[in-house]
Amino acid sequence: GKVRAPTHIISTISDDRGEEPCYAGVPMSSIVESGYGVGDVISLLWFKRSLPRYCTQFIEICIMLCADHGPCVSGAHNTIVTARAGKDLVSSLVSGLLTIGPRFGGAIDDAARYFKDAYDRVRIDRHYPGIYIAGLTPYEFVESMKKKGIRVPGIGHRIKRGDNRDKRVELLQRFGRTHFPSVKYMEYAVQVETYTLTKANNLVLNVDGAIGSLFLDLLAGSGMFTKQEIDEIVEIGYLNGLFVLARSIGLIGHTFDQKRLKQPLYRHPWEDVLYTK
Ligand code: ACO
Ligand code: LMR
Repeated sequence: GKVRAPTHIISTISDDRGEEPCYAGVPMSSIVESGYGVGDVISLLWFKRSLPRYCTQFIEICIMLCADHGPCVSGAHNTIVTARAGKDLVSSLVSGLLTIGPRFGGAIDDAARYFKDAYDRVRIDRHYPGIYIAGLTPYEFVESMKKKGIRVPGIGHRIKRGDNRDKRVELLQRFGRTHFPSVKYMEYAVQVETYTLTKANNLVLNVDGAIGSLFLDLLAGSGMFTKQEIDEIVEIGYLNGLFVLARSIGLIGHTFDQKRLKQPLYRHPWEDVLYTK
């Protein structure tokens, strides 16, 4: 009989062996002829399925809103300095990407994890042991994080304030409230923000928190994912990928901008450093 040669790689998302490449089984010609967008391609390659239009539109809005946030943020700053050191496009891009993490742009997965855990948590009532209470109140959630010494991912911003909200967050929230069947996780994040704003004016729901909570709503409300799949997506951490992908657009733009402007090697001014012993 036939003997199956052992393979060194298993791959389940794309196939280039036929006449045309396929993404999750969908041939390239269908992708082009059906007028699919980048949200559909992300759905196929990341989630291995076609998602409803409002989901792919939401993914595309995340990409557009996070593409850039000016030259002063960590990622763009690194990219600009690297490009001015004469490095190539890929080096300048990855230098910026390497700043994405728990403080900057990479808090989406943790925001989703913590909001989900707090909202889904089921506890036995202390006074009535037969009664189950669903979810931590925002007060319980925030204070439990404080006790653990963990900043709430998705909350806080360097320049945005309670009286100077992040327009991107408002746009995402408006889209979710209009198009999603349910926005329970996002509304929970809003309640958390209401509480954190009583502590300090910069503790707003930021764009990472808005995307993290709304993506939970997308996963749970679209009917396209099993509970097990949602847990796996949250555990593996797919969602920071949205920021990485989006911000690459801006970082590439910053690289071209510096090259176009023929900017010289960057050196930080002495006056802006506190030299001390
Ligand atoms: N949860 C609880 N308390 C907080 C939080 C938070 N998320 N953020 C700030 N605080 C409080 C803390 O008490 C902090 O004091 P500490 O340094 O003793 O912990 C105090 O506010 C002052 O914080 P700052 O250091 O002045 O805040 P900063 O402006 O430097 O931080 C930042 C902004 C990094 C975004 C912060 O709020 C944070 O870590 N948030 C969580 C991570 C996150 O969501 N990052 C994504 C931001 S959006 C983006 O990058 C696209
Ligand atoms: C960003 O999108 O880069 C920001 O929200 C971070 C910042 O400090 O503006």
